[in-house]
Amino acid sequence: MPRLAGKVAIVTGGAKGIGCHYARALAAEGARVMIADIEDGSALAAAIAQAHGADAAAFMRCDVSDEKSVAALVEVTMKRFGQIDVLVNNAALYAKLSPRKFIEWDVDIWDRVMAINVRGSFLMVRHVAPHMMERRSGKIINIGSGAPYKGVPRMLPYVTSKGAIIAFTRALSRELGEYGINVNSLSPGYILSDTGLENTAHVEDERIPVRNSRAFKRDAYPEDLLGTLVYLASGDSNFVTGQSIVVDGGAVNN
Ligand SMILES: NC(=O)c1ccc[n+]([C@@H]2O[C@H](COP(=O)([O-])OP(=O)(O)OC[C@H]3O[C@@H](n4cnc5c(N)ncnc54)[C@H](O)[C@@H]3O)[C@@H](O)[C@H]2O)c1
Repeated sequence: MPRLAGKVAIVTGGAKGIGCHYARALAAEGARVMIADIEDGSALAAAIAQAHGADAAAFMRCDVSDEKSVAALVEVTMKRFGQIDVLVNNAALYAKLSPRKFIEWDVDIWDRVMAINVRGSFLMVRHVAPHMMERRSGKIINIGSGAPYKGVPRMLPYVTSKGAIIAFTRALSRELGEYGINVNSLSPGYILSDTGLENTAHVEDERIPVRNSRAFKRDAYPEDLLGTLVYLASGDSNFVTGQSIVVDGGAVNN
């Protein structure tokens, strides 16, 4: 029996990068998945539907930094699937950011990173959690990063935003515990996602040093995250909340 049979999941930023692997993995475990992204995820939804059945996936364009867009996503998801059991807050401004010194970050970029990475997760929770609270169950998985633990240089707004996600997870878990809702963070190390590889500045800055900082001295790929994602989405993690699980081959001693 698949571990997420009968469940409905939203994956933000699910059209590209690591998010599309999350969407596929949740569907493979029996969940029906709403893919939400500013980029087009309709081909991915169609591929998942072909593999797992017509109702296995849908795509809706959504900008997580915009409350109206988030409200519309949640409304359409409820109409289409009738419930929301799992929220994966994965959308972020990451791969398109090129590393630079702290003083060189433009204020507008700083604000955009916070709006997508932090406000976006808050807005998703604000609109999804009430549906979970009504049913007194749910799994919220906020995608963090190993970067705030390491204090990775040259990506200051991004690293700051992911530090906020760890704090957001801890505090929110205290408020949602009484409703039986788990709130955890999955914090990947540097992952060779297709979108990440498009930005050669990241590859040059991070690939070799990160590999050397790991207990397991190898590159990491989206597939390395999927076991932990499914664990956090499933009943196997029912007594785990407020945690940040760092999946990085042992680079960070959490
Ligand atoms: N790749 C890595 O090494 C790594 C490491 C640690 C954490 N992460 C985190 O994992 C997640 C995915 O990373 P990725 O490598 O696929 O990065 P990415 O930047 O390629 O992916 C982010 C996804 O979010 C979407 N998105 C961007 N802005 C959006 C918005 N306003 N509304 C909705 N969707 C939006 C993008 O279109 C994309 O599909 C991010 O949260 C990232 O911070 C990545």
